[in-house]
Amino acid sequence: MRRCFNLALLGAGHVAPNPMVGAVLVHEGRIIGEGWHQRWGEAHAEVHCLRSVLPENRHLIPYSTLYCSLEPCFHFGKTPPCVNLILEHKIPRVVIANIDPNPKVAGQGVAKMRAAGVEVQTGILEEEGAWLNRSFFHWIRHNRPYVVLKWAQSANGFIGRTGERVAVSGPLVQRLVHRWRSTSDAILVGTTTALTDNPKLDARLYGGKNPLRIVFDIEKKIPAEYNILDDSIETWVFGPARSGHFTRTHFFSSEDKINLPNLLQQLYQANRATLLVEGGAMLLKQFLENNLWDEIRLIEHPGSMGGDVKAPVLPVGMALKETYRVGMDNIRIFCNSSVSLKE
Ligand SMILES: NC(=O)c1ccc[n+]([C@@H]2O[C@H](COP(=O)([O-])OP(=O)(O)OC[C@H]3O[C@@H](n4cnc5c(N)ncnc54)[C@H](OP(=O)(O)O)[C@@H]3O)[C@@H](O)[C@H]2O)c1
Repeated sequence: MRRCFNLALLGAGHVAPNPMVGAVLVHEGRIIGEGWHQRWGEAHAEVHCLRSVLPENRHLIPYSTLYCSLEPCFHFGKTPPCVNLILEHKIPRVVIANIDPNPKVAGQGVAKMRAAGVEVQTGILEEEGAWLNRSFFHWIRHNRPYVVLKWAQSANGFIGRTGERVAVSGPLVQRLVHRWRSTSDAILVGTTTALTDNPKLDARLYGGKNPLRIVFDIEKKIPAEYNILDDSIETWVFGPARSGHFTRTHFFSSEDKINLPNLLQQLYQANRATLLVEGGAMLLKQFLENNLWDEIRLIEHPGSMGGDVKAPVLPVGMALKETYRVGMDNIRIFCNSSVSLKE
């Protein structure tokens, strides 16, 4: 099953808002096929797995066990149901980590296989599977994007210095952040961050897909020549429209403060499953105070800095999920325990 998870992760950044899924076919302890869901709207993991079986091993398929990180699909979506494929290939045993929370599947895939005489085992490494697909699970159960808050803070508790762009974390962490961007569907920054840091908000240090950029600019403060207005990537600007020819930049005029639940609804309707909020402090605080967050990615730099923009206060009721070092910096990933990944 862990091999399935590793394969599933190869789809990160390419399949949203679908889940990442891996599948492995095993005959008498030997892997004879494997695959993963590679791109949204394209073949599922089970299809790639069965296609990968070499001609000399194909006669073993009806005597093998199929491991899937997610319940095989039951419905006709963009592709035919994987359950039919499993039955056509007469696979006798299927082992699954998570039942698909999509109401179009939700246990029906398992029921159909069992009714056809397939031995099905579910719940294997269920928690790890739910963590892997936390964005998708959240998306389908709560009808809003999975919100990740990210910030880097110094040992003395600052994230920045007014009017000056300062790097709080090391270069390796910057690459990691670009990886996080490439697996997010949208990134949001506040006006002051856009003005101070002039960020590009792309994933150039990691590669992969650039997410939708979102910035608040109600008072039209951001200079026209700033990176976020360069029209190079799809961008939503909440503020008055600008003159000039924009093809990828959309302006949403508003005189009032942006209502965050409405923004999340707009993202949900645009099929954006993960929102990465990159700061600054004032914006992060709003998400925290309204309990509109699901995960915090905290980067702790061991050195002190002369700053005046204070890091947000970590909320109570968090669960520490991961901790690791990248270069000199310590990364801690927390999830909001008031929002369950399980039913
Ligand atoms: N270390 C890190 O991880 C990190 C990350 C990002 C930023 N930073 C630093 O943080 C500092 C900026 O943080 P900050 O707290 O001063 O500002 P900020 O959060 O970046 O921006 C705050 C501004 O955004 C606008 N805004 C926020 N919420 C809004 C809403 N709901 N609707 C409409 N507009 C909204 C308002 O602009 P108006 O007042 O103009 O309306 C507000 O003053 C900079 O020094 C930057 O370098 C550090």
